[in-house]
Amino acid sequence: MRVVDLRSDTMTRPTPAMSQAMAAAEVGDDVFGEDPTVNQLEKMAAARLGKEAALFVASGTMGNLVSLLAHCGRGDEIILGSLSHTFFFEQGGSAAVGGIHPRTVANQPDGTMPLTEIEAAIRADNLHFPQTRLIVLENTHNLCSGYPLDLEYMQAVGDIARHHGLKIHVDGARFFNAAATLKVSPDQLAAEADSVSVCLSKGLAAPVGSVVCGSRDFIGRARRARKVVGGGMRQAGVLAAAGIIALNEMVDRLADDHANAHKLAQGLAQLPGLSIDLSQIKTNIVFFEVTRNDVTAEHLVKTLDDQGARMLPVGVGRIRAVTHYHMSADDIDYTLEVCSKVLRQL
Ligand SMILES: Cc1ncc(COP(=O)(O)O)c(C=O)c1O
Repeated sequence: MRVVDLRSDTMTRPTPAMSQAMAAAEVGDDVFGEDPTVNQLEKMAAARLGKEAALFVASGTMGNLVSLLAHCGRGDEIILGSLSHTFFFEQGGSAAVGGIHPRTVANQPDGTMPLTEIEAAIRADNLHFPQTRLIVLENTHNLCSGYPLDLEYMQAVGDIARHHGLKIHVDGARFFNAAATLKVSPDQLAAEADSVSVCLSKGLAAPVGSVVCGSRDFIGRARRARKVVGGGMRQAGVLAAAGIIALNEMVDRLADDHANAHKLAQGLAQLPGLSIDLSQIKTNIVFFEVTRNDVTAEHLVKTLDDQGARMLPVGVGRIRAVTHYHMSADDIDYTLEVCSKVLRQL
């Protein structure tokens, strides 16, 4: 049976060019700083993000954790979105491992935290309070339909951070998707950030890994943090080789994923029993709601799955579909046919 897997862009498999590069990768012991392929990837990533240095890590979760550990000490407070991946989906790792205290501000549907509320959340100098150190942004914002944070917003948060002596970390799991849809260069979009963690393993289709970018000093601290969480990898060049292809060959095609997401969203909007806010669709993530009382999101997803369209139920009555490299416009037509047929049958 033909299956279109829209559960996540993490479903992407290495491209043929990646497989070849991985097999041929020149390697060394990266904990000794001697893996030439890792070193090349880190140099490339830093240049793309306009930062001094970069660090190859095993995952987006590890990228965020080592960044927070590098920015904060025990008892320090971070300000982050109530719907952010770091707050929601990373086991509270920064609190568990680093003793870092989270202070959430409600995310708006466009992924922003209101500027006035960020400012209100910054602690005064008072014996009773933890000290605010860091603002964490997510760009694009996964649970907010993959919405990108634009330059103006990044600059406004940068102004607040500077004024209060705080740092900014960006969870940029899909940072290149943001830059692509906003039509700005990644280094411009990263200019206000002290650190950015970018996933190579999502829309960019590498099998493993993220890169954290920042100042040389910051990356030195992040490298120490990576070692203590068990992330010092040895001949990691076999993985970094795929990351190099990801940065070289997979960024420019992200616009195709965004076009497919629009096509999917427009098709879903025509189907009775579903509701979707088309203005929310800016990148490769599509959220929609099931409005029928007689069908749950779980049941609809299970039935779609049986018929060849795989999606993810997220929260009550909500479904997420993510477009990626292994999907053509024809696959989107097929997915919409399956959705239409299933909704008629149920
Ligand atoms: C916004 C965001 N940040 C971080 C991560 C974590 O990445 P990983 O699954 O590589 O740990 C994800 C994963 O989906 C994500 O969507």
